[in-house]
This record gives sequence, structure tokens and C-alpha cells, in this order.
Amino acid sequence: MGCFGCFAPEADEGDGDHKPSKPDDSSGADARRKVAPDVANGYAHSFTFKDLLVATGYFNEANFIGEGGFGKVYKGKINGQMVAVKQLAQDGVQGRNEFLVEVLMLTVLNHPNLVSLVGFCAQGDERLLVYEYMPFGSLESHLFDVPLGKKPLDWNTRVRIAVGVAEGLSYLHNVADPPVIYRDMKAANILLGEDFSPKLSDFGLAKVGPVGDRTHVSTRVMGTYGYCAPDYVVSGKLTMKSDIYSFGVLLLELITGRRIYDASRPKPEQSLLTWSRPFLHDKRKFYRLADPALLGCYPSSALNQLVVISIMCLQDQPHVRPIIADVVIGLNHVASQPYAPERPPVAMSSPANSGSPQFVGTPSRRRGGRRMAQYA
Ligand SMILES: Nc1ncnc2c1ncn2[C@@H]1O[C@H](COP(=O)(O)OP(=O)(O)OP(=O)(O)O)[C@@H](O)[C@H]1O
Ligand SMILES: [Mg+2]
Repeated sequence: MGCFGCFAPEADEGDGDHKPSKPDDSSGADARRKVAPDVANGYAHSFTFKDLLVATGYFNEANFIGEGGFGKVYKGKINGQMVAVKQLAQDGVQGRNEFLVEVLMLTVLNHPNLVSLVGFCAQGDERLLVYEYMPFGSLESHLFDVPLGKKPLDWNTRVRIAVGVAEGLSYLHNVADPPVIYRDMKAANILLGEDFSPKLSDFGLAKVGPVGDRTHVSTRVMGTYGYCAPDYVVSGKLTMKSDIYSFGVLLLELITGRRIYDASRPKPEQSLLTWSRPFLHDKRKFYRLADPALLGCYPSSALNQLVVISIMCLQDQPHVRPIIADVVIGLNHVASQPYAPERPPVAMSSPANSGSPQFVGTPSRRRGGRRMAQYA
């Protein structure tokens, strides 16, 4: 296991310089990146447990950010850099496997829309992951149950997030070599930078995709309820089209501001797919899908196009779902029609008054009121 040498923390003890050395090629646009277990190349740093105790103020509750299936996450600072430290909770084989996959994947993958792994700690029984700190937290916390007084995500930001997520997925499917199937696309795993630029996180479930003539990888069905493609759930055959389905769910969540499954809603509205089906089947009803928190502030044609992309991704049959490259093209087209608030009327003779009608919101659709009213 020579290439896992840095999993032996002793090798790094006494090393005062804990700066991770990252590959300087961040473009990687046309060359596939080799996904090989080459952790020892210095892409991510091996920290001691003590380093991370100090970084997080001994896992001080004041630095607690949140908790997921893997364990608790704390904010910290290492060598002046803000980081998020994730500590594996249970000592199970499952968790250990996910830890290893996460380190291996993020060590070799590098894209502006993937979260960076600063380092890890594998000392004794401790397993911790150290990521770049994402100051705006998860997309989930901005999209759902937004408290009164907090500004909901506007249309243009939602579209920018969709484009960034699709570009991250496109990197995994088309640039990484061999390709990577993400398998855990969901709003909780999309982390946001200061300008709301999105990054995919949590690669513990990711799979190196089929190579050669193979079309799928057989796996135990894993992922998050509601996001998993129906064909994957039934057959256990994981393909890139499984990710496309999950992305279609994410798009529908971005459009509607509703969770894929929400037990707090009345029964007929608990499943987003069941609730939205009548609207998805009739183009004249697409506007009913728009999140009321948008207050009608979106370009109608762009909304329709985004709904259509979502419908295409959510096809039951995987072979008719689009590939991610086509999704990116479609989303960039949607992004080229941003919402611009209506300007106050000016003299007819002014050239400034000749704005494109597609940028104009539809006041008649301002039906939703404040988001909290929706939950009342
Ligand atoms: N790099 C990071 N920067 C800032 N916050 C983060 C970072 N990584 C995780 N978090 C936050 O920590 C919390 C827990 O994240 P975690 O990924 O462990 O769980 P989850 O995604 O909510 O659930 P799951 O275990 O199903 O993935 C979330 O609120 C997330 O936003
Ligand atoms: Mg997560």
C-alpha cells in the first residue's frame, strides 16, 4: 500500500508546514484527469489529530456548523485558511470506505465547482476530512424553509447555481478519466461560496464509472430517497444517467423551492414529483411550478425552458435522458436570459425604453406572497 503512505500520520508529525500542495492545473478542460490512488503526490495534506483539535478550538460548540450521516462538521482555521472539519462518527466499515473514497476522489479531482479537500487525518481510530470552508453553507439552507427576514434566492442566482452544478457534473462525467458517477446529488451537498457559486461536496458514494464497452456499474442502491433514478433503484445498475435524473430533481427543487419529499406538507403535496406532475404535463401550467418566494420575478420563457430541461432529465427511461454536456448547453441558454426588474416607465422616445420583453416579470403571476405564508 505504498501509495497510501500518507495515511500513516507519523510520516507528517513534526512537519511544521501544513500547507496543502494542490495541482496548479485547475483548467483541465480538455484533458481527462487520471483518477488514480495517488494520495502520496501531495495533493491533500495529512494532518495530525492535534492539528485539527487546535484548528477547531478543541471542537468547540461555537464552531459547530452541522451534522450529516458521516458525522459532525466544525469550522476551523489552519495556517490562516478557513476550513470545515468533518469528523467520522461511527467506527463502521461503511464510514471508513466512504472516508477513503472521499479522500481518493477529491485528491485527484480538481474543478471550480467541486469542493477542495485541504487534507485529512487518519490517526489511530480517528478519521477526519478537512475541506475549504464554504461561507454560505448548503443550497438546502437557502432554498427551503427560509426564515422570515432572510432573502430567498432570486431567479438569476438559482440559474447560476444550476449552471455551476451542471458544469461540476460535466467535469466528473466527461473530463475525469475514468469518468466518475457522483451518486449523491442533492441540495444538502451543494455548498455555496460568497457569490453563491456552487460546489459539489460529499464524494463518499461516488463511483468510478463504466470503462470500455460497459454501460453501467453494478452497486448496492445507495443515495438519498427521492433523488435516486427509478431504473437504478430497480436494477442496481448505476449509470451516468442516474446522476442526470438526480440533477433533474435538483432543478425542480430550484424552480419550486420545494423539497423532493416534505412530510410537513399536506399529504398530496408531500412528494414533489406527485404534486408537480399535472403542471409538468401541461406547458400552460408551468408557471404554477414557480416558487412563490420569487414573487413572479423571473422571465417566463426562461422558466419554461428550465422546466423542460428538468422534465428531460426526469424521464423514467435512462436512455432518453440527455447527457450532461447537452444539459450544460441548455442551461447556458437559460442563463443568457436573466431576469431584469421592470424599469420605471420613461418617455417613449428614449432608446433605454426598448428593453427585451423576455426580461420583464409577469405581475399577474405574483400570487405567492411571502414564503412563510406558504407554510402557514
Ligand atoms: N466545506 C464546508 N463548508 C461549510 N459548511 C460545510 C462544509 N461541508 C459541510 N458543511 C455543512 O455541514 C453540515 C453537514 O454536512 P454533511 O455533508 O456532513 O451532511 P449532509 O450533506 O447534510 O448530509 P449527508 O450526510 O446525507 O451528506 C451541512 O450543513 C453543510 O452545509
Ligand atoms: Mg453532505
